[in-house]
Amino acid sequence: MLNETRFGSRFQVGLLILAASSALAACGEVDGFTPDQWDQIKKMEPLAGDPPPNPFNNRFADTNDTLAKLGQQLFFDKDVAEAIKVAGPSGNIGDIRKVACVTCHGTKYFTDARPGPISEGISYLTTNTGDMLNLAWYDWTLSTGRFDSMVEHGTTVWGTSATPIAQARFLYTKYLAEYNAAFPDTPLDPRLGLPTTDPASVYPMTGGPKSSATAADGPFEMMPQDAQDNISQIRANLGRLFDIYPRKLLTPESPFQKYVRDRDFSQLSPKAKLGLGLFIGKAACNECHSGPTLADNKFHNVGVPNLDFIPNTTTAITPNRGRAGVMQTILNNLATIQANPASPLIFNGAGIYSDNPTLGLQRLLDVQAEDQQRCLTRDPKTNACTLYDETLEGAFRTMSLLNVAQTAPYFHSGTVTSLEAVVRQYNAGGGPPGSYVGTVSPKIRPLLLTEEEISELVEFLGTLTGVSPADQAAADPTIWNWAANTAKPALPPPTSP
Ligand code: HEC
Ligand code: HEC
Repeated sequence: MLNETRFGSRFQVGLLILAASSALAACGEVDGFTPDQWDQIKKMEPLAGDPPPNPFNNRFADTNDTLAKLGQQLFFDKDVAEAIKVAGPSGNIGDIRKVACVTCHGTKYFTDARPGPISEGISYLTTNTGDMLNLAWYDWTLSTGRFDSMVEHGTTVWGTSATPIAQARFLYTKYLAEYNAAFPDTPLDPRLGLPTTDPASVYPMTGGPKSSATAADGPFEMMPQDAQDNISQIRANLGRLFDIYPRKLLTPESPFQKYVRDRDFSQLSPKAKLGLGLFIGKAACNECHSGPTLADNKFHNVGVPNLDFIPNTTTAITPNRGRAGVMQTILNNLATIQANPASPLIFNGAGIYSDNPTLGLQRLLDVQAEDQQRCLTRDPKTNACTLYDETLEGAFRTMSLLNVAQTAPYFHSGTVTSLEAVVRQYNAGGGPPGSYVGTVSPKIRPLLLTEEEISELVEFLGTLTGVSPADQAAADPTIWNWAANTAKPALPPPTSP
């Protein structure tokens, strides 16, 4: 049966295109798109321009590849992993040496190959594992923007496998030469190789800084200050590695990139072109998904249902407030750095390890201004904001759409399992009311897309898949393979501790 709405809307769009093309054909129509439309499409050219550098991490520009290669080795090395705390796909409670970055970022597109919405390391994380590709274009790291760059994130992310002191000891045991070659000014302390029974030992086997200033001192705080500072310096260096390595992971040459950059109009099927027209028209996806990775570097609430429980358990997950939920942590770090600019435990762009602390501080002050502007309710005792307005509650960083056909499940919670379901959710103006925190952005509203149009949009999204790092290396043996497992051979089994 003929769908009248669809016929009606198509008919009008058809008339518009006819009118536009007869008026403008002579002045710049491109593959059936008007000059205005093509301008919008050009703003979506995948990976246009050089990847932006990280202003907080440019001191090692000359030895960039050396650092990236060490980051790559560590990315794959499971020997670092301490005992699993929650049984799941990584192994049983107590199993050691089972987890590395690659455990959760194991596919060609660096997502989790294991099924389910969220991933397990030595315990479960509560968000969907992101891909790790084309990340240089993001200003803030993670879907909440908890970290001000990949460096700060990189100082904590190995916590998915082990504590900072265990990491430092592991580096000393297995990567001493590589580490010291990468960081000749801050080599590893030889005392990291001593057993705890040695009278000269200062480092316990495991542990890290206490979780809050008010908590009781733990093994980390009991160490002499120079040993504490050494561990912090190692974390800062790891932050640099886990920034520089992921920056090598790019996915160029998607059909859509060739379509826009080269004006090779054969790259998109007629159906994908209709989808592109919807993306910049009726569905207005490009209000947020534009720029070289199709992401605007802002936070929006698009009504994504929460994940309520850790899979196969009755462990509830606190509803994710997104950007609102991390504001206070960022402000606490700002307060620490303002009280003590030399704090060794602050790893953001404003801290002592940063290559541009002035810029780092400015970005934190911008967050402070936003807190002042957007807070609705404060805790009378601590003055912390407990409720922000609709721009922050339930708002997440716009995700890149490059390679999106390869990165299911979707959104921060992993609750949507197919691209078709993603588009249907947008079409409905967000997930079911009450399934997410806060209120959807005014940009999210029912789109009245027909079944045909939903499938056209999905078709277009499929043209955003670029060549993975592994496939780039397979096609050209002269380039370094950034996807290869370059970890050193496994250590012999541990003797009793
Ligand atoms: C237990 C699973 C797990 C392990 C292990 C893990 N990650 Fe991730 N990774 C995640 C999840 C989940 C996300 C998405 C989190 C979010 O955006 O809220 C992510 C996202 C990332 C991102 C993207 C950040 C962004 O801004 O989009 C990078 C980079 C990354 N991980 C690097 C690493 C590195 C390096 C390691 C090892 C040191 C590692 N990951 C280990 C689960 C894991
Ligand atoms: C108001 C801004 C906004 C608009 C408009 C918008 N998006 Fe998004 N998009 C986002 C944000 C923010 C996220 C991440 C949300 C989250 O994780 O909770 C996202 C995530 C996605 C994802 C998930 C990517 C992944 O890897 O998990 C897809 C796919 C997507 N959007 C497609 C679309 C399409 C198609 C449209 C148009 C129908 C659209 N978006 C319109 C902001 C927007």
